[in-house]
Amino acid sequence: MVQLSFYLFAGLLASLNALLPVSALPTSDPHPRSSPDPATHRSQPRILILGAGVSGIIAARTLHSHGHSNFLLVEAQGEIGGRLKSGTIGGHTIEYGANWIQGTVNPILCLALKHGQKTVNNGLYGSITTYSDTDGPVNYSATIAAADAAFEAVVTEAGAQITHYGPDLSVRVSSISQLPSSDTSLPSFRPQLQWPAGDRWDFEYAQTPSQTSWMASSWAHNFTFNLYGDDNFLNIDQRGYKHFIQAEAATFLRPQQIVYNATVKSVDWSRAHATATHSGQNLVAVTLANGTTLAADYVICTFSLGVLQNDEVEWVPRLPDWKREAIAAFTMATYTKVFVHFAGEDRFWFDTEMALYASSRRGHYPLWQSLDVPADHKPQFLPGSRILFGTVTGDDALEISALSGATEGDVRANVEEVLRNMFPNTTLPAFNITYHDWAADPLFHGSYSNFPPSWDPDLHQNLRSSVGHGRLRWAGEAGSATWFGFLHGAYADGKATALELIECIRLGEKCRDDFVPRPRGPRGAPVWSERG
Ligand SMILES: Cc1cc2nc3c(=O)[nH]c(=O)nc-3n(C[C@H](O)[C@H](O)[C@H](O)COP(=O)(O)OP(=O)(O)OC[C@H]3O[C@@H](n4cnc5c(N)ncnc54)[C@H](O)[C@@H]3O)c2cc1C
Ligand SMILES: *[C@@H]1O[C@H](CO)[C@@H](O)[C@H](O)[C@H]1NC(C)=O
Ligand SMILES: *[C@@H]1O[C@H](CO)[C@@H](O)[C@H](O)[C@H]1NC(C)=O
Ligand SMILES: *[C@@H]1O[C@H](CO)[C@@H](O)[C@H](O)[C@H]1NC(C)=O
Ligand SMILES: *[C@@H]1O[C@H](CO)[C@@H](O)[C@H](O)[C@H]1NC(C)=O
Ligand SMILES: *[C@@H]1O[C@H](CO)[C@@H](O)[C@H](O)[C@H]1NC(C)=O
Ligand SMILES: *[C@@H]1O[C@H](CO)[C@@H](O)[C@H](O)[C@H]1NC(C)=O
Repeated sequence: MVQLSFYLFAGLLASLNALLPVSALPTSDPHPRSSPDPATHRSQPRILILGAGVSGIIAARTLHSHGHSNFLLVEAQGEIGGRLKSGTIGGHTIEYGANWIQGTVNPILCLALKHGQKTVNNGLYGSITTYSDTDGPVNYSATIAAADAAFEAVVTEAGAQITHYGPDLSVRVSSISQLPSSDTSLPSFRPQLQWPAGDRWDFEYAQTPSQTSWMASSWAHNFTFNLYGDDNFLNIDQRGYKHFIQAEAATFLRPQQIVYNATVKSVDWSRAHATATHSGQNLVAVTLANGTTLAADYVICTFSLGVLQNDEVEWVPRLPDWKREAIAAFTMATYTKVFVHFAGEDRFWFDTEMALYASSRRGHYPLWQSLDVPADHKPQFLPGSRILFGTVTGDDALEISALSGATEGDVRANVEEVLRNMFPNTTLPAFNITYHDWAADPLFHGSYSNFPPSWDPDLHQNLRSSVGHGRLRWAGEAGSATWFGFLHGAYADGKATALELIECIRLGEKCRDDFVPRPRGPRGAPVWSERG
């Protein structure tokens, strides 16, 4: 989110052309809706794609554009989109989940433009008012500038650390190489990433610097804001942010290639486990909550890391230890937006796009955003809507979850207290709230993945690797080492997994699972000696 754009692109259109997805090119598929030749179709392997979020749809599109049309998407919800999830308040469509497109050369932006998605460039921290929980409005612009500089230093030093093959650490201890030589104290942590402006960090990664990998967070930041550009386009399309992926699916997907309201309960791969034969024998069986079993040659599972970690799906037999270890090794973070709609007429809130609320409780509604900025502000979001939304991250997001017994009334009381602290001399008008409890939702179990300081590239390889002679595969946001946590990560990994599957089908019995049997770690226990 800080200004780190070092790449200047010749022009938006030139870049977009270069990045247009294959199926968007007019020549790639002249008859996308025509039925496949029945003979070819029968001889093609049967592929089940579990989940119809961005990753599942892009995997399906990739299979389709490579001539593999014998697939079925299996989705628990009644529509396509996954974590692109909209709701309504005060008569307006709002986004419970993903909201922004980061950068100007992002493939998600290409799709958004292709399907006429309405977005506006959100200035974020360029337009911010700051508050404390004790004194109402307080000018924290100096501490915000310091936090920006610290964030930038974290990212720059991570590059140096990678070049020197240094260890990954948490962001909290990342200042090790930055202490002035006169400073003889132990490296501690960057005070600038702590109170009051440090919550901005949590906003990006949904966890604190102590819980976050220094290297992975830094390169995810660079790969997004440095490579794609540092703009953040906020969806304000009243069809919902999900519109673009539903419209993209409509360009190639036939009705018989997707089932809705179908919750996967178990995946039986006992026969795939035992044999490497690839002769189309439907060796994998996926059982739904209604008892129906779907047979397949190959399965791509795009369920979130949280779904995998919480055993929502039973794997028969149990997944190999290397896979279970990898699933456990990454973190599903929680980030929840609470939307507030005010009655009345008067504008009592901030005139900027954003507000920082410095609470002595880290993660307690640190960021607020106004969808209703003054009439003379550019850009406009939802003019006259009287909607603000607060963001809650980390442990606080878990505290407002039904998992910890919190009710909507508790969340409302929290919001009221925070708003009273921000606007001490205002009589708050009546308001309604709405939010989605991502932590408690069995289809997600959190918002998006975060890489912890103990992660390792081998573990990440194992998170992605296929199982059962290439027949079980995974895709999704967490599978992207460069863009985890983002829609474009889900896009990239859905495409990558589909291409790997196509190669596996081509290889037939030569297809191998590419896991690392024993991930590297510290090289053995220290050897005991007299000197200790
Ligand atoms: C609050 C929030 C804010 C975010 N903000 C942004 C942002 O601004 N920009 C950005 O780029 N990214 C953002 N993200 C991240 C982005 O939404 C995700 O990275 C992306 O949507 C993940 O796509 P996916 O296909 O990997 O997974 P999903 O979208 O989770 O797709 C998986 C699908 O599987 C289905 N499913 C799950 N379990 C089952 C089951 N048992 N049976 C059948 N179906 C099942 C789900 O319903 C879902 O449709 C945000 C996410 C959240 C939650
Ligand atoms: C899915 O279920 C919802 C809620 O029960 C229903 O409204 C919708 O029509 C169903 N969708 C499909 C495609 O069956
Ligand atoms: C906040 O303080 C900075 C100096 O630290 C000053 O430049 C800025 O104008 C102040 N902002 C407001 C809104 O008073
Ligand atoms: C991120 O990009 C900056 C600017 O190019 C560079 O200095 C830094 O080392 C990079 N960090 C990582 C982790 O790649
Ligand atoms: C279960 O759901 C699937 C997918 O929607 C459907 O095809 C099947 O007919 C259902 N089976 C039963 C027994 O309802
Ligand atoms: C809150 O919701 C209720 C019930 O839908 C509605 O009558 C009321 O007008 C809403 N108030 C605000 C401020 O949105
Ligand atoms: C609120 O009112 C009190 C008393 O009039 C005043 O001292 C204080 O500065 C006001 N606070 C704000 C944030 O306007």
